[in-house]
Amino acid sequence: MRPTDELSPERQPGDGVELSLRPRRLGEFIGQESIKDNLAVFLRAARQRGEPLDHLLLYGPPGLGKTTLAHIVATEMEAPIHVTSGPAIERPGDLVGVLTNLEAGAVLFIDEIHRLARPVEEILYPAMEDQKVDILVGKGPAARSIRLDLPAFTVVGATTRQGLLTGPLRDRFGIVLHFQFYGEDALFEILTRSAGILGYSIESDGAREIARRARGTPRIANRLLRRVRDFAQVEGREVIARDIADHALDRLEVDDLGLDRVDRAILRTIIEKFRGGPVGVETIAAALGEDAGTVEDVYEPYLLQQGLLQRTPRGRQATQRAYQHLNLTVPDPGETPRLF
Ligand SMILES: Nc1ncnc2c1ncn2[C@@H]1O[C@H](COP(=O)(O)OP(=O)(O)O)[C@@H](O)[C@H]1O
Ligand SMILES: [Mg+2]
Repeated sequence: MRPTDELSPERQPGDGVELSLRPRRLGEFIGQESIKDNLAVFLRAARQRGEPLDHLLLYGPPGLGKTTLAHIVATEMEAPIHVTSGPAIERPGDLVGVLTNLEAGAVLFIDEIHRLARPVEEILYPAMEDQKVDILVGKGPAARSIRLDLPAFTVVGATTRQGLLTGPLRDRFGIVLHFQFYGEDALFEILTRSAGILGYSIESDGAREIARRARGTPRIANRLLRRVRDFAQVEGREVIARDIADHALDRLEVDDLGLDRVDRAILRTIIEKFRGGPVGVETIAAALGEDAGTVEDVYEPYLLQQGLLQRTPRGRQATQRAYQHLNLTVPDPGETPRLF
């Protein structure tokens, strides 16, 4: 099994800082009110019964706080946490090793759980359902399978796309929580908190401007904050005010809606190369030299949420709003499409 740690599989520059910005308790977790309200009840009920929390699936686009919440669950349950990820568990034996080392009540966090190999998944089913694991002892004709009892524990799974989870795996989670993009107010609060921890001075208009353009995503908000601070520092400004935030975000090519260069390239490709769609996501990705999974997981959810993109049975379609946002003329709906 490949080594894993707290940061994998999304290790990226700035993660050290990101770790220090991570809220530790449910009370510090900003936004996602319905997730927090429900989870608080489930945590409390489990603690009252002296049982581990039911298996929990966290679903949502990258950077919205899934890993953070998994750690919070362990902290709130006063339970040890073991961190791994779908791609890191290569063979069934790797998972057996992890399972048989769990303490009673432990949290097993499996990031990118949709990427578990099928034979590994099959070890997980009886472990989650009956706290049992089957291991094969011996080799060849003398081999036999024995069943081991596991202590009660909690699997916390995180995935960017629920649709990629197999039915049987999804069914074994008693609690499924869907993350939504954050509103400006929550991002404003997150930025103010982060600036405080990092020791940056920021005016509320400055924080508002970053919040407005952070793509509804705390990880992006924190990243933009650090970059805006670089601009402020180099220009000899002690405080991050609105004008410097605005200037820095323009330089970073983050537009008014928070779209970055790739977001705009996706819309532009659909409009200019495929007459606005519908066009398949694989085709869009190929035209951009991007990976289709990345387009679907990272870029598309926000474009859909902003009403710039529509999903149709025949593929993705740019909306009127997308044309307007890019200052392109919306084609006349009466006009028959020109054929080659
Ligand atoms: N609700 C929140 N309140 C404050 N900060 C948050 C919140 N959610 C996420 N963050 C910040 O965003 C970063 C990314 O969150 P993370 O849990 O790694 O996202 P995911 O696992 O969904 O990709 C964290 O390091 C943390 O600093
Ligand atoms: Mg994560």
